[in-house]
Amino acid sequence: MLSYRHAFHAGNHADVLKHMVVIQLMRYLGQKDTAYMVVDTHAGAGVYALDGDYASKNAEYETGIAKLWDRKDLPPAVQEYVDVVKSLNPSGKMRYYPGSPYCAEKVMRDQDRLRLFELHPTESRVLADNFRKLEAHAAAQGQRPTVRGKRVMVERADGFLALKATLPPPSRRGLVLIDPPYEDKRDYARTAEVLRDALTRFPTGMYAVWYPVLQRNESIQLPEKLKRLGAKSWLNVTLAIHGPAPDGFGLHNSGMFILNPPWTLEPMLRELMPYLVDVLGVDDTAGFVLESGEV
Ligand SMILES: C[S@@+](CC[C@H](N)C(=O)[O-])C[C@H]1O[C@@H](n2cnc3c(N)ncnc32)[C@H](O)[C@@H]1O
Repeated sequence: MLSYRHAFHAGNHADVLKHMVVIQLMRYLGQKDTAYMVVDTHAGAGVYALDGDYASKNAEYETGIAKLWDRKDLPPAVQEYVDVVKSLNPSGKMRYYPGSPYCAEKVMRDQDRLRLFELHPTESRVLADNFRKLEAHAAAQGQRPTVRGKRVMVERADGFLALKATLPPPSRRGLVLIDPPYEDKRDYARTAEVLRDALTRFPTGMYAVWYPVLQRNESIQLPEKLKRLGAKSWLNVTLAIHGPAPDGFGLHNSGMFILNPPWTLEPMLRELMPYLVDVLGVDDTAGFVLESGEV
């Protein structure tokens, strides 16, 4: 079942939380010179046109990036995220939204590696095209990678299955982002299973899982399962822009669950989540949860 198209949701409040956190996790990895690898198991198309048919249908970006675009009081981590989005919009007009692959490419260094998996035939083709254009643009500007090998690899594959072969990364430093559509409820179980296996291959890796906070058992149980996977430490952050709709439709709340988070993440989020609630929240039912644990 591959009906999900991320373009409908690009730049919404859930993307803000996800992409801001991913950028901060990579910034932390980038504090050491040693190369790291980022694996994005569900990469999507990489870049989305906000004035395209999909994105403009429900204009979900108005619940997220649009509310941050002109703010002059952004906390540093939110500013870094908005800067990445702005780098894709040099005219200053908000026209394109970067998916996780673009955000990662923007933050990674020459020596780092990015492995992108996407199963949808159209999305994976668009993703590969986007990266070809990006490389051509960099080459036209005289930028050449200073290290050998491909910085970015795009593959049409089931990311849950493909992850195994990428772990552990040669440098034993890395981040795995797992961001499935969850339209098929088996995605919840597969996420927990694949992480259980990944932790045996690469116990010190950083793993970030995006998930929707819904009134359904699978969604409620996912973070509880992830807490018990045996990672050395974990952090769970959720952002609700309002309470659940009476008909249960629409995404009002989402979370990022991180296994082996950097110690800097929790204090940073404790400071900036009230800001995001304030700016993205629709009414006084908006809020966040931030919890962490160690084994
Ligand atoms: C939520 S979107 C990804 C968004 C992207 N990570 C971002 O933040 O920009 C989920 C993507 O997973 C793809 N997908 C679904 N099942 C998959 C699987 N088993 N392996 C890889 N990709 C899959 C969908 O086609 C969709 O593009």
